[in-house]
Amino acid sequence: MSILTEKIKPSATLSINTKANELNKKGINVLSYAVGEPDFDTPKHIKDAAIGKILEGKTKYTPTGGIPELKDEISKKFKTDNNIYYSADEIFVSAGAKITIYEALLSVINPGDEVIIIEPYWVSYPEIVILCSGIPKFVKTDENFEIDADEIEKNISSKTKVIIINSPSNPTGAIINEKTMKKIADIAIKHNIHIISDEIYEKITYGNFKQFSIASLPEMKERTITVNGFSKSYAMTGWRLGYVGAPKDIINEMKKVEMQTVSSIPYFIQYAGVVALQSSQDCVEEMRKKFEERRDYVVQRAKEIFSCNVPDGAFYIFPNHSKYENDSIKFSGFLLEKAKVAVVPGIAFGNSGEGHIRISYATSMENLKKGFDAIEDALKEFKK
Ligand SMILES: Cc1ncc(COP(=O)(O)O)c(C=O)c1O
Repeated sequence: MSILTEKIKPSATLSINTKANELNKKGINVLSYAVGEPDFDTPKHIKDAAIGKILEGKTKYTPTGGIPELKDEISKKFKTDNNIYYSADEIFVSAGAKITIYEALLSVINPGDEVIIIEPYWVSYPEIVILCSGIPKFVKTDENFEIDADEIEKNISSKTKVIIINSPSNPTGAIINEKTMKKIADIAIKHNIHIISDEIYEKITYGNFKQFSIASLPEMKERTITVNGFSKSYAMTGWRLGYVGAPKDIINEMKKVEMQTVSSIPYFIQYAGVVALQSSQDCVEEMRKKFEERRDYVVQRAKEIFSCNVPDGAFYIFPNHSKYENDSIKFSGFLLEKAKVAVVPGIAFGNSGEGHIRISYATSMENLKKGFDAIEDALKEFKK
């Protein structure tokens, strides 16, 4: 097998969900809080748009990097929501945000270059960096999952080419505030470093918290790759539709990778994206509100059992369970066995995730109540 792929770990979150599904098939009822996808169906007007285009016969190859109609809508979206002015040739569409991160990194780093990743991190970042022959460098957040920009700067070397930021964050739900974004921007400018800003959870924020796009800051658009997609905002995970805004020279490199691998994204999928962006955003707000109600509920329950931060976005909590057990793999195993609840061990999100579990509340209130009751019951008999 290849030395490169042998270094790559399977996705912990996808693997745990598969395990929970297997147990369910065997008749053992397991509630899965492991998966990172909205439980809502894709809104009907979006599905209808795609079906209409399939019936029209729009089923052929399309231009690599996105159809003009979708790039126009994305350009408007960036202007309105993020205060960034990307023209059509600064926009690139592919099969989900995940692959765009891979293509972007492949386009800007060389073997041995270092990429700074904020920890706890989304499980795919280090593996994608390794797949691109780069070296992940981890910078830990504090106990409230806040970033200290000075810590980032301390970890910069002559080989550092990229800093990956993710706000709101998977797994912690933390949002990077504007002040910290400015500090990170200053560091990127001073050391001539690219930023990959993963804004996939942008629409899922709570209270007064709003996602702030680093590329909207002076001198940042030319060094930032702004990543977004339809999976989380529009409950479109299985459609595989994501995009980036970035400088034209980076987009051109990404296009070459896409041309020789994916080729292009089906017209009907991209058209669904056009309709999602053009139509009323009420469906997005309805889902956001539901997530907020669930967030309030799970935080309250989790605080009674663990020590738990209040996340300002995304649909995860990342409670600390170390008063019961330090080892997050052991603890998740215990919850699966005794409470029949699947969660992701915190260690999957980096060493500083140890002692935590990630619980996704992208599931019904009824399932959340059931699961938390079961966790509470199981912990009564927990022996360290
Ligand atoms: C932080 C983060 N970025 C990117 C993605 C991938 O999104 P997509 O479905 O568009 O590939 C996920 C999915 O879980 C995620 O949590």
